[in-house]
Amino acid sequence: MVGIDKINFYTPNTYIDLEELAKHRGVDPAKFTIGIGQSKMSVPPISQDTVSMAANAAYPLLTDNDLNNIDLIVVGTETGVDESKSVASFIHDLLGIHPFAKSVDLKQACFGATAGLMMAVDFVRLHPDKKALVIGSDISRYGLNSSGEVTQGAGAVAMIVSSNPKIIEIEETSVSMTKSIFDFWRPNYSKTAIVDGKFSNEAYISFFSDLWEEYSKRTNLSLEDFSAFCFHLPYTKMGKKALLPLLEKEEPKNKDLLLENYQYSTTYSRDIGNIYTGSLYLSFMSLIEHASSSLNATDRIGFFSYGSGAVAEIFTGKLVDNFKDSLLAAEHEKLLTNRIDLSIEDYTTMFNEELSIDSDGNHLFNQDKTDNGVFFFKGTDNHQ
Ligand code: CAA
Repeated sequence: MVGIDKINFYTPNTYIDLEELAKHRGVDPAKFTIGIGQSKMSVPPISQDTVSMAANAAYPLLTDNDLNNIDLIVVGTETGVDESKSVASFIHDLLGIHPFAKSVDLKQACFGATAGLMMAVDFVRLHPDKKALVIGSDISRYGLNSSGEVTQGAGAVAMIVSSNPKIIEIEETSVSMTKSIFDFWRPNYSKTAIVDGKFSNEAYISFFSDLWEEYSKRTNLSLEDFSAFCFHLPYTKMGKKALLPLLEKEEPKNKDLLLENYQYSTTYSRDIGNIYTGSLYLSFMSLIEHASSSLNATDRIGFFSYGSGAVAEIFTGKLVDNFKDSLLAAEHEKLLTNRIDLSIEDYTTMFNEELSIDSDGNHLFNQDKTDNGVFFFKGTDNHQ
């Protein structure tokens, strides 16, 4: 039995309130809070980047045993800090993992961490005494005043994959699908993403529907075999737009349970925003840390991973005995309640500052005074 043994997330210490953003943009706040389903959005200070967020998510999980037995570090990201050197190689050094480990990044938009998780699960199935560290870390940026602005965010999720996992066993059958499309992308010359918003929503929904049809055909499972479904959540309304038509079509007896658990799975994303590769796993943590009274060992959880461009996958897992004892719910609540609410003016300044750095490869600065990260980015020196 192989799966997720430990899981944690990190998000920067600063956010904006989306009702405030709506007022500044002359939009009805209900569009953001109800129509899109987002309340707050994490905004990274200049001293938090994809590497530091990844390290901040991973380090609380690691014991000496992990540091000596992690033979594979995989980071899924679409906002890495270098076109050549992997985020995983920085993580290997920052966390002090033993030298004979393999460190690599995987990229396919928001799908990268899922590809990493599947690679890690296969690796541990082949080497049951070894472990793997899988991280999804990203900063989502569409631009000030853009239609995607309200769906930005920043954060990282870290998972340790092992034999006899303490949280969830990943089952063997999964179905993936690829179609080369331009629904959301970011050319090398751009620091912000380009998106065809409506098309991206339609693509997400049709990938889910096609994959579910194929998955249920291959496995003979129906929605009634599931206690919950976790979705990649670019914003919290998105997964529901995919799930509702299926619930209406199949009318499962557990429809109310699936809807209730969907709500639990969206709590963290509603207050953090889109963290791209980590988003699906943030949704899983939100589910198991908020719905623990209705979830039990052996319950099957469905996962829908979607990465624009586009690659998607449905896979499943079964919760294991005493999974509730291995959750970091109290730490996550503390992280979110201690955050600082930024003014829209400060957010604008921070956003523009982020876009302007590293243009000359020599730009050192101090840790931002609002930044609570144990690891932080202190800039570039001689292009390093
Ligand atoms: N009160 C309540 N609801 C309101 C409202 C009001 N006053 N005004 C509008 N709404 C509702 C609308 O009816 C609509 O609801 P439905 O989608 O259920 O019909 C919702 O608010 C959004 O309204 P619009 O469609 O008019 O919003 P928009 O044109 O500003 O665009 C968006 C929304 C397409 C999501 C845009 O924010 C965007 O492009 N975001 C980035 C792309 C994205 O997240 N795509 C998701 C799929 S791709 C993916 O998943 C990969 C990834 O991570 C990027």
